[in-house]
Amino acid sequence: MQNLKIHFPGKLIFGNGCLQNLADEIQQLGCKEVLIVTIEPLLSQIDALIKQLKDLYIKVNIDTSIVREPTFTDFDALMQKQAASNPDAVLGIGGGSVLDIAKLVAAQLGNLQTLSEIVGNGLLKQRHKKLICVPATSGTGSEVSPNAILVDDSDNQKKGIISPFLVPDIVYVDPLLTISVPPAITAATGLDALTHCLEAYTNKFAQPFIDMYAYEGMRLIAANIVTAVKNGNDENARTQVAMGSMLGGFCLGPVNTAAVHALSYPLGSMFHLAHGLSNALLLPYVMEFNAVAAPHRYADVAVALGCSRQSDDRATAQAGVDKIKELIAQCGIPARLRDLDIPQNVIPQMADDAMKITRLLNNNPRPVTLDDAIAIYQAAY
Ligand SMILES: [Fe+2]
Repeated sequence: MQNLKIHFPGKLIFGNGCLQNLADEIQQLGCKEVLIVTIEPLLSQIDALIKQLKDLYIKVNIDTSIVREPTFTDFDALMQKQAASNPDAVLGIGGGSVLDIAKLVAAQLGNLQTLSEIVGNGLLKQRHKKLICVPATSGTGSEVSPNAILVDDSDNQKKGIISPFLVPDIVYVDPLLTISVPPAITAATGLDALTHCLEAYTNKFAQPFIDMYAYEGMRLIAANIVTAVKNGNDENARTQVAMGSMLGGFCLGPVNTAAVHALSYPLGSMFHLAHGLSNALLLPYVMEFNAVAAPHRYADVAVALGCSRQSDDRATAQAGVDKIKELIAQCGIPARLRDLDIPQNVIPQMADDAMKITRLLNNNPRPVTLDDAIAIYQAAY
């Protein structure tokens, strides 16, 4: 078992309606000026928060420039625009892309390290601004993780910035914020969260403390995601999936993901598929590939997903793969690469790119060769 190292957020609030207490919290931090990184469609939902902040004489500056999975250029443009601003805190309210950017803005305002100097694990050495994260989707778990992922324009690869300084001071998870998320995004982000838990539980570096988060996250998401997709107003399902997503976020720092995420990156960078959808497309096929190497762990996964134990671990693990395929079908999202007009002849190129994501492939319970990667993409096609 490897050593356990976790950086928890300074404070975590979870609950329906908790967002209404955030302005007071920000005032208690002593903030006079806040930069909110969010997206245009969320502005009406955070209108009350903005008004509360202004009523407390806190200056509010809003940036809505992140409209897709962000690139280095997108981040640089945002930083240039904000170069003259001097907020006490950066508040990210949105999905994973927005939260990742908010985390980096908080770190880089006033930091002399350049973006290229902080790409990698543990290279970012400081953060001068307070950081507050509020997830508006139940998916990435970025609000509690030390990770931020951006696309490097120079080689079109997704790069990770991983540092304890990217863990927020304050996290508010208000599941009511996710009520308006449309079904396809609820499905994709929820399956991403489930993948975080699953890849942590079956990880080569899995360990018991994180297993608790991972197992319970899988259980909660599997039991509630279809309801959350089909009836977005179901507060109970939204709350359970939000909790599962947050638990998945806690898996990301200490253990992290593996081959599903590594193989999904090229789908994001080459075809701009949403991160959660990319993972969902590959998840059953990576599970099938991995289960032979870790049948007992994959049998546990199946039970967490709601399957009963079969005659042996291999059979139980297979029931888990079938269950994932069933969940994807019930969520109504595409299940095959071919459904998304991805040309079959790019598979070798995608496999080539995926093999470069060694920081995640190293975590996989079964070694993945280039030929294996090609075979997994073919199976998913
Ligand atoms: Fe993910």
